[in-house]
Parts: sequence; structure tokens; C-alpha cells
Amino acid sequence: MRVYCASDYYHVSRVAANIISAQVIMKPDCVLGLATGSTPIGTYEQLIRWYEKGDLDFSQVHSINLDEYRGLSPENEQSYRYFMNHHLFDSINIDKKNTFVPNGMEEDREKACRDYDEIIRAHGGVDMQILGLGHNGHIGFNEPGSAFGKETHCVKLTESTISANARFFASADDVPKEAYTMGIKSIMQAKKIVVIVSGESKREIVKKAFTGPITPEVPASVLQLHNDVILVGDEAALADTFQNH
Ligand code: F6R
Repeated sequence: MRVYCASDYYHVSRVAANIISAQVIMKPDCVLGLATGSTPIGTYEQLIRWYEKGDLDFSQVHSINLDEYRGLSPENEQSYRYFMNHHLFDSINIDKKNTFVPNGMEEDREKACRDYDEIIRAHGGVDMQILGLGHNGHIGFNEPGSAFGKETHCVKLTESTISANARFFASADDVPKEAYTMGIKSIMQAKKIVVIVSGESKREIVKKAFTGPITPEVPASVLQLHNDVILVGDEAALADTFQNH
């Protein structure tokens, strides 16, 4: 695993955006696996800046997002499709037809998951997967205890994830209780994985995930088994674990 320790969130975002840029420049028709959440917002802002300067071209890029709430439409401001349009897709020249997020409006759970796995396969898999890290070690919506062998599936969200996400909704009751997520197996099949972490609140889970035992109780610990992982974090998140990088 390669580790980049940046001084703060702004620099973390620049390093992560540089790595994604390199991927897009080296393979203009690459498949990017994208994440939502607060961590990658700065990375997406940086990519937009470089696109506006003429340094990046997303016209041939395809993207496949990790997850989506079940029951939220793309127009719902809390849906991950809305998030991606708002934070990235509307501001770059990616063709929206080439951007994929699980279909939150598909009520048939099995069909939603089967369709998404088919999309991933039809694209030949993900070239570079971007990941954030949950405080309990979740990646995508794969919560502690998730089997490592799963592809896209429907999950019931844990109380801790519902309350962490409640800040985005009028109340905890409005937070969807289920989500569609790429599974650990799908994530591990990405050719490269870039994990972005920032802030002291991630320090403990970074240590557990990257230096602790590999166990479904810490879903991100499975990343220790992938042979091309880049961890980009700031000093606050990496202190105790990788401070000398
Ligand atoms: C987002 C996702 C989640 C987040 C994780 C960290 O698509 O799947 O696993 O990456 O919850 O979220 P932040 O970045 O808000 O700390």
C-alpha cells in the first residue's frame, strides 16, 4: 500500500485529485468508481478547477458510484445521484449517460442489484475506485459484519449510520432505512483503490483498518488484501499509524 500524508484537507484533496487526473490522462476512457460523503467533495472541487482550466477531459470517462439510498429519486437532494450531479457531473464534460448510480427507485431489490452488477461487468470493471471510510470501518454501505464475498446488494442501515446521516435530513425518521451498495467483492475487484481520509475523527479507524486484523467486523480491513491501494490522508487522520509518510 502506498500512503500519502498531506498537511490538511485542502492538500489531501489536491493529492487525491492528482491521482485521479493521472488515471484520466493515462486512460481517457477509464471507469472511475466514485463515492459520496463529505470527504471527496474537496477532491471533486479540485477536479472541476482543473477541468475549467482545460487540463482535464472527461468526455470518454465512465463512472460507477458505490451506493444509493433505496427509495430516493435522483431529484431528491439527499440522493447520491443528486449529490454526484451537484458536486461533480454538472460541472465537467462527462456524458451523464456514462455515469451510473444504483437505481434507488427500483423497488425490486434483486433486480436493482442484478442490473448494477451487469453494468459493472459490461464496463469491464472499475479501473480506479475512490473510497471514503466510515467511523465504524464501513466502505460503501458495507457495515461491520458484511460478508466479504458479496457483490451489489441491498442493506438495512445500522442505527449508527442512520444517526450519522440524520444531519442531512429533517429528522432521523426521514433517513431511508435501506440502501443499495456495491459489495466488498465488487470493490475488491477494482484494479486500483484510492482511500481518502481526513480529520482526527478518522484516526482510530484508520489504525484499525490498515494495521489491525482483517475481519468483516472492520469492513475496510479487507483492503489490506488488495495489491494496489493508495491511502491519502492528512496528519490528523494518519497520526499514530502512518505519520512518517
Ligand atoms: C459514500 C459511502 C460511504 C462514505 C463514508 C465516509 O458513497 O459509501 O461509505 O464514504 O461513510 O463518509 P464521509 O466522507 O462523510 O466521512
